[in-house]
Amino acid sequence: QPVRLRDYTPPTHLVDALELTFDLGDAYTEVRSRFRVRANVPPGEDPQPLRLHGRHLELQSLHVDGAPVSGDAYLEDPEGLTLLALPAEATIEIVTVIHPQENTALDGLYRSGGLFCTQCEPEGFRRITYFPDRPDVMTTYTVTLIADPEPYPVLLANGNRVDHGERADGRHWATWHDPHPKPTYLFALVAGDLHLHEERYTTRSGRDIQLHLYVEHANAGKTAHAMRSLRKAMAWDEDTYGLEYDLDTYMIVAVDDFNMGAMENKGLNIFNTVCVLADETISTDGDFETVEAVVAHEYFHNWTGNRVTCRDWFQLSLKEGLTVFREQQFCADMGSPAVKRIQDTRLLRSIQFPEDDGPMAHPVRPESYLEISNFYTATVYDKGAEVIRMYHTLLGEDGFRRGMDLYFQRHDGQAVTCEDFLAAMADANHVDLDQFSRWYTQAGTPVVQAGGRYDASTRRYHLQLSQHTPARPGQTHALPLHLPVRLGLLTGDGQPLPLRLPGETGQAPLERVVALRDASMELVFEDIPEAPVPSLLRDFSAPAVLDYAHSEDELLTLLAHDTDPVNRWDAGQRLLLNTLLASVESGQPPELSEPLREAVHHVLSGWRTDPAFVAEVLTLPSEDYIAEQQVVADIDGIHTAREALRNRFGSSFADAWRTIHDQCDPHAPGVNGASARRLRNLALSYLGAAGPQGAELAMRQYHAATHMSDRLAALEVLIEHGGSTADRLVAAFHDQWRHEPLVINKWLRLQATATGRNALERVRALTAHPGFDIRNPNRVRALLGAFSQSNPVGFHRTDGAGYRLLADYVVELNAMNPQMAARLVLPLTRWRRLDPRRAGHMFEQLERIGNTPKLSKDLQEVITKSLAS
Ligand code: ARG
Ligand code: ZN
Repeated sequence: QPVRLRDYTPPTHLVDALELTFDLGDAYTEVRSRFRVRANVPPGEDPQPLRLHGRHLELQSLHVDGAPVSGDAYLEDPEGLTLLALPAEATIEIVTVIHPQENTALDGLYRSGGLFCTQCEPEGFRRITYFPDRPDVMTTYTVTLIADPEPYPVLLANGNRVDHGERADGRHWATWHDPHPKPTYLFALVAGDLHLHEERYTTRSGRDIQLHLYVEHANAGKTAHAMRSLRKAMAWDEDTYGLEYDLDTYMIVAVDDFNMGAMENKGLNIFNTVCVLADETISTDGDFETVEAVVAHEYFHNWTGNRVTCRDWFQLSLKEGLTVFREQQFCADMGSPAVKRIQDTRLLRSIQFPEDDGPMAHPVRPESYLEISNFYTATVYDKGAEVIRMYHTLLGEDGFRRGMDLYFQRHDGQAVTCEDFLAAMADANHVDLDQFSRWYTQAGTPVVQAGGRYDASTRRYHLQLSQHTPARPGQTHALPLHLPVRLGLLTGDGQPLPLRLPGETGQAPLERVVALRDASMELVFEDIPEAPVPSLLRDFSAPAVLDYAHSEDELLTLLAHDTDPVNRWDAGQRLLLNTLLASVESGQPPELSEPLREAVHHVLSGWRTDPAFVAEVLTLPSEDYIAEQQVVADIDGIHTAREALRNRFGSSFADAWRTIHDQCDPHAPGVNGASARRLRNLALSYLGAAGPQGAELAMRQYHAATHMSDRLAALEVLIEHGGSTADRLVAAFHDQWRHEPLVINKWLRLQATATGRNALERVRALTAHPGFDIRNPNRVRALLGAFSQSNPVGFHRTDGAGYRLLADYVVELNAMNPQMAARLVLPLTRWRRLDPRRAGHMFEQLERIGNTPKLSKDLQEVITKSLAS
């Protein structure tokens, strides 16, 4: 019974206005709803039945036009109500009772600590009241909250507070009105005792906006960075896209129990505390970056998501891909564009490519689903962002902006599709993008194959480019994509060459973007003095795998001289990857060739210019990423080879690492400090891998640290190499931070990812620790998510105990929080990539989960696809 894109039909009814009243109680909450519907049919035609979605609701009463509805005028089933004979226009009134206190799924209205809060995307609203819970039904909301003033002094909903007061029974109330019509998934309410950080912002056109950031009182000092990030995001969207905020107040509320990162509810964002709170004592540089990025992301949704929303959930990437792309642009402008692009590339290759290669593979716009929550994926978000970036690459900065302007001009206030976005881009630029639409419909990572031939007699270089996309489940034959290849050519000693095509005159460019549209093409470059080194797919210009047999010399040239920082980094990664794979295959310790050793020295000698970039170049590919290069992953061989290379890196370049550790200034202000800490802590980790002196250095750093990044990096080295003192430090760290849940997440994660013989026993013991709580998604991610995703040797134990442990918790979460369960299970789905013994153990656990009584739709979908793969 999957939902299919091709079955979409427009709503049978439109809603004119919705009034909601929440009586928030200790035992239960009563929800009164009143709305006016109009049949969405041509005049004269009979209205169709009205479907109201609803789940786990207790229906108290149902009235149409003031009269109770008799039992034969509607049908009730576990997923909702169907009203059979409605007049063309009607007023519907419904009273339901719900139990937020018992809602452990964190979907709909639920409790987090002492707060009431909501999460309605994608289909949580149906757990609040009966309503057409689909994004193409939009209406204005007037919402009244009633609660006890003492535990719930703050009462919030979307839009503007229009009235409030106290009742004779001592309870207080507030009414909010949101003038912007919106779908159910953007509805939100919050009630609780919260600290308010309040600032004002003046938009470019002179409107005065109140910025309200609400957190629990204990977190009052940790909101400055999020507030600063919000102001930056608002100014950036005005400057870059001419988009201003459209309500008088922008609210953000932080809650500790949240399935995802944050939610863009109109005017009332609700955030996971992980993505709001930050200060130097509890946060790493990575945390600061996350907060800035997520605050901006949710803010950008106000236009790309809220003002223009999705027609149906197959279009999820319409808002998520576009908003992630805008977030990427913003982060690049706020920090280092090169480092940001390298991180995006790394994420795509290490998370999205494997997803596209596994049983859950789906196009950026999926065609069917059993449970839409399973499609909040790296493909929809991050490959989706790459698709948007390709429009930008093909159309240029100005062309892209013209397309965006037309998109808003045409669709403001509407619920639309990915085709509508594509049409705006094409029409604004008078180009044909029909072939480009295949990026939305085809799954799988395309491979771009390249081959070069230099003809000295004609001084011509012939570059052959071809593409193919592998078969994926339900997709046997993929068609060629419209794929931008950004490229340049270098001489052997690294000089960029002008790229002159036959017949061209005048100044030739040093870089070109070539549109590969056919299965293959040949490019000819003239006046090329020697066999050049091609630099292809620069800036990761398409979400593809590049297949070109670069020699070691060519990679060394690119690493040393390419003008494109992403390809310099990539050349370094390929050199390291080749070294590691050779070692895994031969079983011999990795050999650093003399030229590679010199190249690393050269990179290291330039550390002062851009420490974070140097750190990216010299970070070894992850064990998972190495494994992705093999048909059957050699889990233990990869770990051994990588550890040996870490040791060799540490000892061979020990002097340079010590100099860096000594001279990098971790107290430098702003991004310079973050960049310095990044490289300095990489140096520490290599010195730790090289021998006991590294551990001593880590001990000193641990005690001297004033920044959480430095403290944590030192502790990580000590856990791996510090022997028994590490145990004492780990315990002391916990005692020091036991009252800071965000630090406890880090404490759990650190231990979950530490390798060593007893990793699994340690993780199992931690599940019983008071710092762990199966009901809190952050804790589950920090311990079980990190163990299964970032501790390959521990998780993939040959006796299958790692898989069993994960499966135990997946089964427990199935009943409690199906969305979390379906995410947690993912590391078990790629059994095909493992040796028969491990694959067998994994398969067994998948079957066991599949046999769980009352299996959620979420898990059912993942398990069925995985077993069938
Ligand atoms: N729209 C949100 C964001 O990307 C995430 C939605 C959360 N979804 C969920 N199923 N919990 O910003
Ligand atoms: Zn989003």
